[in-house]
Amino acid sequence: MTASSHDAAFPVARPRRLRRGAALRRLVAETRVLPENLVLPVFVKEGIDAPVPISSMPGQVQHTRDSLRKAAAEAAAAGVGGLMVFGIPAHKDERGSAADDPEGIVQAALRDLSSEVGDDLVVMADLCLCEYTSHGHCGPLETGGHVDNDLTLERYASIAAAQAEAGAAVVAPSGMMDGQVAAIRAGLDGAGFPQVPILAYAAKYASSFYGPFREAAEGAPQFGDRSGYQQDPANVRESLREVALDVAEGADMVMVKPGLAYLDVVAKVAEISPVPVSAYQVSGEYAMIEAAAERGWIDREKAILETLTSYRRAGAEQILTYWATEAARLLR
Ligand code: PBG
Repeated sequence: MTASSHDAAFPVARPRRLRRGAALRRLVAETRVLPENLVLPVFVKEGIDAPVPISSMPGQVQHTRDSLRKAAAEAAAAGVGGLMVFGIPAHKDERGSAADDPEGIVQAALRDLSSEVGDDLVVMADLCLCEYTSHGHCGPLETGGHVDNDLTLERYASIAAAQAEAGAAVVAPSGMMDGQVAAIRAGLDGAGFPQVPILAYAAKYASSFYGPFREAAEGAPQFGDRSGYQQDPANVRESLREVALDVAEGADMVMVKPGLAYLDVVAKVAEISPVPVSAYQVSGEYAMIEAAAERGWIDREKAILETLTSYRRAGAEQILTYWATEAARLLR
């Protein structure tokens, strides 16, 4: 006997009805990614006269000040929401002196960008020391090799003031030191920048997916790893605590990082956070998709848009992605 509308077993609910045709699917889509949700991370290096390609991140470069301006203008024209600027200084030392030098590379780039594209998108400064210290850790060390938490806070407060002075519209501490948001808030307020928001990398895991970034930013630890300050991938309750602490200390926005392997964390943080939630599609995620696409094993553009949609679906309102400009154009 064939199934018919007279059978009790005949499907009453037919979800496939709404999947018939692109127009219907578009009409009922629950999640949309907009160009203004996207933030482009960029690297600017001191002392180079042409952009340097990053081999583990095909399509990405370490910029000169000039090439960065051009990339920023392209991002703005594509409707991207913001930039996250990372600086790579010519000289590193134990305390990362170049990070808060008013003439340092990141400050110079922030001045360029805030005057040229600052009205069109949000120019954010990554605030950390690993690109600036000779040992590659995210703050000055105590004897024994651990990062000295409270000495690092003084450095971060000073860097925040230098970045705001140079025109950063948002500062984004990524070092995972205890108390960093409170210290930076006090530093900004004391230097006359009470209006500058803090985007806290609140839940940042010690992840293997940062591998290519360490080539890009030249900030690999020279010994040990970052698991003494970044979170253990096994934990999620700890992320909710980090978010609560950062919000209590004055974070205006919070971030989860990495994203793809941590979308459960993004979703849980989005449920409890009283402030906007960002997530970072990190270098290893970028490299995996680029490498698989290069071999013809994956549809590159579909994979990019699918992952970005998944970030939004999980609850991220801002997505940091190296594909920001390209994705913004595809989304138009
Ligand atoms: C440094 C920093 C890292 C990333 C952003 N800021 C690396 C790390 O913590 O080791 C990773 C970004 C990426 O992989 O795309 N504090």
